[in-house]
Amino acid sequence: MRFLQQHLLLLVSVLSLNQGTTAQKAPGNFYPFDSVAGSIAVEDENSTYVGLSRPFVFFGRLYHQLYVNNNGHLSFIQPSTDFIPHPPPSYRGEDIIAPLWTDIDISPNGVISYKEYTEGVVLANATRDINLYFPDLSFTATWVFVATWHRVAYFLQPGTESSFQVVLISDGYLSFVLMNYEDVAPTADLVLAGYDTVNSARYFVIPDSSDGNSIPNLKNSSNVNVPGRWVFRVDSEQETVVGLRIRVTSYSDLTESGNILFIREKVKQELVDRGLPSMELKVRRVEKTTP
Ligand SMILES: *[C@@H]1O[C@H](CO)[C@@H](O)[C@H](O)[C@H]1NC(C)=O
Ligand SMILES: *[C@@H]1O[C@H](CO)[C@@H](O)[C@H](O)[C@H]1NC(C)=O
Ligand SMILES: *[C@@H]1O[C@H](CO)[C@@H](O)[C@H](O)[C@H]1NC(C)=O
Repeated sequence: MRFLQQHLLLLVSVLSLNQGTTAQKAPGNFYPFDSVAGSIAVEDENSTYVGLSRPFVFFGRLYHQLYVNNNGHLSFIQPSTDFIPHPPPSYRGEDIIAPLWTDIDISPNGVISYKEYTEGVVLANATRDINLYFPDLSFTATWVFVATWHRVAYFLQPGTESSFQVVLISDGYLSFVLMNYEDVAPTADLVLAGYDTVNSARYFVIPDSSDGNSIPNLKNSSNVNVPGRWVFRVDSEQETVVGLRIRVTSYSDLTESGNILFIREKVKQELVDRGLPSMELKVRRVEKTTP
């Protein structure tokens, strides 16, 4: 009984200590975060279940819950203590959103917190941001979920501090993922930032994020022209029809499907290398033109 009382007292004092640091100004382009609400346990290899007040659509699958996992990722079906990233395409059976997947241990320093919003300024700001990045959608956010890893340490590297955030934004139909980065420490451990899906039907790896020496650059890179921010639309398959003119030097017969398949894979790889998400490419028509 005495032990239990001491234990409770300790917990209370830790919480009130944290309370003093709430309402801190979000650094850089971070969405607001809280160092108490939804803080996850100060332990290695941990994972927190979050029941969502609105479902989140991720590439056609509807989720009513997610797990904020210590090691820099969100999963949906089950908690994950995976600290070694599986580089996409991993062809695994689950969806994962990983702002920075690596071996994180917040026992020496760092706070992981999350918060859901269904009203207020955060929704207005998310609406503004998404309309800025996707001007054709007339989007109005009705739900925002923010998970923040604030000044967290890497496992066995106490004192390292990395800050990053993943923001899920939805109107019930369309959904988006924002990843925000502040100072990110380099590490010799395996790292990865991006997302992967069931059987890797869709995936994305932020360029340079799979090398622990390059990850400090996450603070500076972007696909929306905002340093330290990456944004993805993730509700469903979107089909875009594009025309592409390429010069081939070694195929005489492009009506042969094997040849077309080969070229399609090359084009796909080229697009991914240039920072577009992996996608299914279908060839609609091939036309021969004179150079
Ligand atoms: C996660 O933290 C909770 C709360 O401290 C604890 O009960 C649970 O055992 C931990 N889980 C793991 C896998 O460490
Ligand atoms: C909303 O955006 C404005 C302008 O960028 C910013 O000053 C403000 O802090 C943001 N508020 C919240 C709650 O995110
Ligand atoms: C990021 O940009 C800032 C300002 O331009 C620069 O000082 C810094 O060296 C850059 N950091 C990295 C890791 O590229």
